[in-house]
Amino acid sequence: MLYQNLIKPILFLFPAEKAHHISTSLFKLINRIPLVSSINKSIFRYEHADLKKSVFGIDFPNPIGLAAGFDKDGQYYKSMASLGFGFVEIGTVTPVAQDGNPQPRLFRLPEDKALINRMGFNNQGVDAMVERLKRRPKGLIVGGNIGKNKITPNENAINDYDICFNKLYPYVDYFVLNVSSPNTPNLRSLQDKEPLNALLQHVDQLRNLQAHYKPILLKIAPDLNNDQIDDVLDIVNRNNIDGIIATNTTISRADLNTPESKIENIGPGGLSGKPLFERSLEVVSYLRSKAPNLPIIGVGGISTPENALEMLKAGADLIQIYSGM
Ligand code: FNR
Repeated sequence: MLYQNLIKPILFLFPAEKAHHISTSLFKLINRIPLVSSINKSIFRYEHADLKKSVFGIDFPNPIGLAAGFDKDGQYYKSMASLGFGFVEIGTVTPVAQDGNPQPRLFRLPEDKALINRMGFNNQGVDAMVERLKRRPKGLIVGGNIGKNKITPNENAINDYDICFNKLYPYVDYFVLNVSSPNTPNLRSLQDKEPLNALLQHVDQLRNLQAHYKPILLKIAPDLNNDQIDDVLDIVNRNNIDGIIATNTTISRADLNTPESKIENIGPGGLSGKPLFERSLEVVSYLRSKAPNLPIIGVGGISTPENALEMLKAGADLIQIYSGM
């Protein structure tokens, strides 16, 4: 195939982050050529009544979505949608623009079909995203994934989620509270009982002030143990949260084929791709066993149709993909 034999080898000559920018920008440009977007849609889009799914009050044309982090600023979601995704999640966005961590911060692990990233929520801020969403095409389902700025201490984190939530409210179809990225210092401690309860309670109250109901999901880390997941489920239930996205990237480096010295050189970050699949699947199965009716989006290491089916069978209502692309 053209992609496997030519495009991918060329992109692999560039550092991973550069390759991402080149490919997404080129794809966006190509999509602007008249008819290209329609041709893409006719090639990649497959519509079938059996693929349609209604989850947390939204009718999805198919259950496969683009995971957060690919389009952090809402610049590419229209072209990505032409590839046939049933929904696209944009972000994580923070109240104020920030650079993220110094580069390099995205690393390929080809031996493992995996990535390690420590991007650190590089984004242009929520106002820039809102401007882009004002020109949003109808019919495409867009989720807004929100977080806090690095300089905001955890005691004030709720305020950051509050700002992003209120500003994005009219422009997205569902929300995701990201408390599980390993690349913003202490962000994951917002998954602890008290701060999590305070955050979810606050965001639910904000929603109650709005005229229209929009679903709110919580995205969790694969590194939580079962007791912690039980606590999360209890708090999600108590605060009318509509579902869980499982999972974000992992800080584990277990069972990799990549030499240890290379892993050490790369340093901290979240691991995604194939090695994450088993753990994400396990978390989804556990969630489903504990919460038979809770909407779940399964994400982590899905790279084949078989993986996708397995994740759906484990109990996910919808799935998302990033590294597998
Ligand atoms: C991510 N992911 C992510 N998640 C999130 O909620 N907000 C974000 O900003 C990002 N950013 C991000 C950047 C990069 C470079 C990667 C690889 C991943 C996590 C992503 O949405 C997903 O949960 C994991 O990557 C697991 O899925 P895959 O990649 O194994 O399919």
